[in-house]
Amino acid sequence: MNKPELIKIWDLWVRVFHWSLAISVTFMLVSGNTGWMFFDWHRTVGEVVMMLIVFRLLWGVVGSGNARLFALCRNPLKALNHLGDLFKRRLPVERGHNAAGGWAVLLMLILLAVQAGTGFFIADEDELVEGALYGSFSGSVTDLLYRIHYMNADLLQIVVIVHVIMVFTYLLYGRQNLITPMIHGSMKWLSDRAIPPVTFQANWVGAVVLLVSVAIVGYVAGWYG
Ligand code: HEM
Repeated sequence: MNKPELIKIWDLWVRVFHWSLAISVTFMLVSGNTGWMFFDWHRTVGEVVMMLIVFRLLWGVVGSGNARLFALCRNPLKALNHLGDLFKRRLPVERGHNAAGGWAVLLMLILLAVQAGTGFFIADEDELVEGALYGSFSGSVTDLLYRIHYMNADLLQIVVIVHVIMVFTYLLYGRQNLITPMIHGSMKWLSDRAIPPVTFQANWVGAVVLLVSVAIVGYVAGWYG
């Protein structure tokens, strides 16, 4: 095999999105579960999570090739084969999400959108923290959204824990390090296969998409008074 070549895999915005999301979602799960620790920040950080999700969905349309939403939807049979490859410790190198990971990312994005979305319409039992759109619906619809917010939070925790366990399974069992590429954006191409081309979007486009996301979510959340 040739000397491994260092190539770019993740653009700046996917990485900024990922670590901002990981920090804010961890905060949301801690403050939501304890019901008191930093709970007065639960609404604001939840709105930041919503802004990140809107950003990622827009980046999934105009962003880099391997961040596009259609790149996440791979053949489900390939996703199953990929899990088999992991089991056999014969993982192919990929310049993007693998066939199984793509679906896992979509699932996380959907659960996060449901979680942040329902949060806008509900309040806690003591009404200390009220979502920006609390009161928009009748009591019974608000109750339903409240229950969804609680049940979805449990599901989300399981999915996030499985996500982190899988990343470490790739590292320790599958001998594939996905973590450092998500930090600095590059990976070693340890394969004789030709390097797949990926079109990377310019960083300034990401800055514009971020501003658009802040404008949309900030407007709905009432950040501008
Ligand atoms: C609350 C915590 C977390 C959430 C909500 C989360 C969510 C996500 C999401 C949505 C993606 C897809 C990124 C994209 O395409 O835009 C992703 C990818 C990834 N995450 Fe996380 N993450 C969390 C924590 C972590 C932690 C703690 C690690 C490392 C120890 C990690 C490692 C990774 C890696 C390596 C990928 C890329 C996987 C691949 O190569 O396909 N994540 N995560």
